[in-house]
Amino acid sequence: QDELKRLVGQAAADYVLSNVADGAVIGVGTGSTANCFIDALAPHKRRYRGAVSSSVATTARLEQHGIKVFDLNEIESLPVYVDGADEIDPTGAMIKGGGGALTREKIVASVAEIFVCIADASKRVPVLGGFPLPVEVVPMARTAIGRRLTAVGGVPVLRVTNDGAPYITDNGNEILDVKNLRIDDPRAFEVAVNAWPGVVTVGLFASRGADFCLLGTESGVETIDY
Ligand code: A5P
Repeated sequence: QDELKRLVGQAAADYVLSNVADGAVIGVGTGSTANCFIDALAPHKRRYRGAVSSSVATTARLEQHGIKVFDLNEIESLPVYVDGADEIDPTGAMIKGGGGALTREKIVASVAEIFVCIADASKRVPVLGGFPLPVEVVPMARTAIGRRLTAVGGVPVLRVTNDGAPYITDNGNEILDVKNLRIDDPRAFEVAVNAWPGVVTVGLFASRGADFCLLGTESGVETIDY
């Protein structure tokens, strides 16, 4: 799988180099696959002004490569956003946030003209929900949101760090990882959960899904358009 991640990271860099004009700012996701993209793009960094980052971790990796990181507020347009996924369905809807960066990922993705998903073949699923759905919540709403998630058949589990303390996101919130869901209508579920007071972000990327996926398979990189 590491080799497949490297392959799709390189494929995404090749896509950017062939399709995105020099001097642009590139949107960059979070996770081990997104890291492969950063590493593949880094040798060509002089062609671009820099990047908008979706997490503290990605900012650190971009800066290690000497890539300038812009605040999203400074940017007028973002031609492309490249990110991984925890699951992707046949319509390009995704579960994201396994790495905890779902809120900033969703913000940057919402601004980008094109969302390129990069993933190894294990992420492709017929129906979303096998991977626990991350929901970022304001800490005081944790139990109230947990009850609502239970009422719709989910099993919410508070994400914790290795020492047992609640995992805290880059935005100072907590994450409920919701097991036991079968998400037949990702758009409707995204809209419904987003409306619950205390939910910051639901890790369903359906209303704004991927435009295409570069999927790493045993026989090479497959491009899937949505
Ligand atoms: C980060 O919060 C996530 O949305 C990642 O994009 C997702 O978890 C995929 O990560 P990997 O590329 O490490 O599998």
